[in-house]
Amino acid sequence: MCGIVGYIGHRPAAEILLRGLERLEYRGYDSAGLAVTDAGTTEVLRSVGKLSALAEALKGHPLTGTLGIGHTRWATHGRPSEENAHPHSAGPVTVVHNGIVENHLALREALEKRGHVFRSETDTEIFSHAIREQIDAGLSLLEATRKVLAGVEGSYAIAVTSTTEPDRIVAAKNASPLIIGLAEGECYLASDVPALLQHTRRVVFMFEGEMAELTRDGYRLMNLAGEPIEREVKQITWTPSQAEKSGHKHFMLKEIYEQPRAMVDTLRGRVSLEHADVHLEDVHMTEAFVKGIERVVISACGTAAHAGLVGKNLIEGAARIPVEVDLASEFRYRDPVVGPNTLFVAVSQSGETADTLAALREAKARGARILSVCNVIDSSIARASDDLIYTHAGPEIGVASTKAFMTQMLALQLLAVWLGRRRGTMPFEATRDRLQALVELPGVVEQQLGCAQQVLALAHKYMNARDFLYLGRGVNFPIALEGALKLKEISYIHAEGYAAGEMKHGPIALIDEAMPVVVLAPQGSHYDKIVSNLQQVKARLGQVIALVTEGNHSLDGMSDDIIELPPVLEALQPFVTTIPLQFLAYYIADLKGTDVDQPRNLAKSVTVE
Ligand code: M6R
Repeated sequence: MCGIVGYIGHRPAAEILLRGLERLEYRGYDSAGLAVTDAGTTEVLRSVGKLSALAEALKGHPLTGTLGIGHTRWATHGRPSEENAHPHSAGPVTVVHNGIVENHLALREALEKRGHVFRSETDTEIFSHAIREQIDAGLSLLEATRKVLAGVEGSYAIAVTSTTEPDRIVAAKNASPLIIGLAEGECYLASDVPALLQHTRRVVFMFEGEMAELTRDGYRLMNLAGEPIEREVKQITWTPSQAEKSGHKHFMLKEIYEQPRAMVDTLRGRVSLEHADVHLEDVHMTEAFVKGIERVVISACGTAAHAGLVGKNLIEGAARIPVEVDLASEFRYRDPVVGPNTLFVAVSQSGETADTLAALREAKARGARILSVCNVIDSSIARASDDLIYTHAGPEIGVASTKAFMTQMLALQLLAVWLGRRRGTMPFEATRDRLQALVELPGVVEQQLGCAQQVLALAHKYMNARDFLYLGRGVNFPIALEGALKLKEISYIHAEGYAAGEMKHGPIALIDEAMPVVVLAPQGSHYDKIVSNLQQVKARLGQVIALVTEGNHSLDGMSDDIIELPPVLEALQPFVTTIPLQFLAYYIADLKGTDVDQPRNLAKSVTVE
C-alpha cells in the first residue's frame, strides 16, 4: 500500500525523503514522487515504476530545500501514471495521501463546479484543491486542513505543505498508519518505523482522527476538533540493521533465517516451567470470563488466517473450546453469531489490515471480547483490542510472511496453553511437557533450516512445473495451504493446498506425471491416512516430494524426493514442516528471477478492502 514520508529540519530534504521511501518499498507501489519547498516555492518530481526512476529524475532535476514530503503510490483510483502519482498540488498547497476517500466523487464534482481544474484521476487531488480554497479564504494551513477533513469520508493518512507557511508540515490520520519521528531541530513523518530508524528511535504514533503540525522546533498533536493531545514519546528498540538485508540476497531469506531468534523473542518472559503456566502480560480476561467462553472466533487474512487454522487445532485441543476460523473479508459482511461469551481473536502482522480491523470492529460491536495477535506495536488492531499478544518478530520487510507466520503460530500456542490451564483442561504434567517442547522449539527450527541446500536442489528440479499441489492433514493441513500460498505469491506458479483426505473429491483429476505433489507426512495420528493419499498420487504418476520424520525410510520407494524433519510433538509439527516449504517457494522464485521481496500486485500491508 502507499507509503508516506515527510521531513522538516536543516538538512537537504530530497535525499532524506528518497532514502525513507526506499525503506517503505516493501509496502508495494507502482509510482513515486517528492515535493520540496524552498524560498517560497514547492517543486514536485514524480515518476512511474521503481524508486530508481525517481532517483534518476532527481539527478537531472535536483530539488533543494530542507522541508518536503514524499510518497510511494499503490494505485486504487486511476492507473499508475505520472499524473496520478503523488504529490498533488493546487496553488500553494501540496499533498500526499494514503487510503481511500469514499465520497471523493461528490467532493470533486462540487470543487469542479466552483472552478477547480483537476489534473489526475485520483481521489487524493480533492485534498489539494479543497485546502487551497480554504487558504484562499484566509485560513491557516492547519485550520484549512481541519475544515476539509470534516467533510471527508473514508480512510486517510495525509501530509500537507503550503508555500504560504513554508515552515511546517500538517499531517492527519484516520485508518492508515502515520508516525512522527523526533530529532534535534528536525521532525520526520512516515507510514512505518523502518523509514525513521536511520534518523531517530524517538517516535510518536498518531491515532485515528488525529492531526499534527510539524516544525523544526517539534510537533503539536491534536484531535480533529483542534483540542491538544499529550502522547508519550516511544523509544523504538528495533535497530536499523534489523531492517537491513544483512548480507542476504533478499529480505525474505533473511527473515526465514531469523525465525529461531524471533521465536525466542515471542516466548521471552512468558513461559514458566516451574508453574507449568504461561504469562501473557497484556491479556487481562478475568477467570470468570475465561471459564464462560462458549466459542472462539479467529479472524484474519492470507497467511495470518493460516496461522489461525493452526490455532484452531491448538486451542480446541488444549482448552476444549469450539473454535471457528473466519476469513476477515467474509466475516465482516456476514451477520455473524457473536456475543459476550465469544472470544474474538484477530491475527495480523501489520495490525493495519483493513478487513481484519473491520471484522474486529464488527465483533466488538456485537459484544465479543477482542484479543489480538499482532507484530506491529500500537498498530490500529492492537489499539482496538481488549487483550494483546505481541509476537515480537521484529520488522518483516519481505511481502511474503515468514517469521510473522511462525511467531503467530507460537503466540497462538501460548494462548492455547493459557486458556487450557485456566479452564482446567491442561493437566500440570502435560502442560510442562508442552512448554518444555516450546522452549526447545527455536533450536529445532534452527536445525530444520539446515535443509536449505537440499531444497535448493529440488527447486532446480521442479522450477518449471506449471502447477503444484500441497497435501496435509490435521495440524499440517493449514501448512499445506500456507506452502501453496507462499509459492504462488512469489514465484507466480499456480499452487493449491488441500486437506489430503479431500483430494479424491476433485483435485486427484489434476494429477499426472507433470504434477509435483508436496505431501506433509510426519509421524503422528494422521500418518497412515496420509500415506494412503501419497499412494493415490503415486498411482497416478504424480511426482511426490514427501516430508517425513527423520529415520523413516518406509516412503523412500513411493516418493521421488524426501525431506526429513526432526521428531517433535504433533502439535508442534507446523513449525518444522513450514521451513522446507518457505525455502521451496523462495528458491523457485529466485531461480525464476521474480521480485521476491515485492512480488507483482502485492502489498505488505493491505489497508484497503
Ligand atoms: O498484516 P497481516 O498479517 O494482517 O496481513 C495479512 C495478509 O495480507 C498477509 O499475510 C499476506 O497473505 C502475505 N502476503 C502472505 O505472505
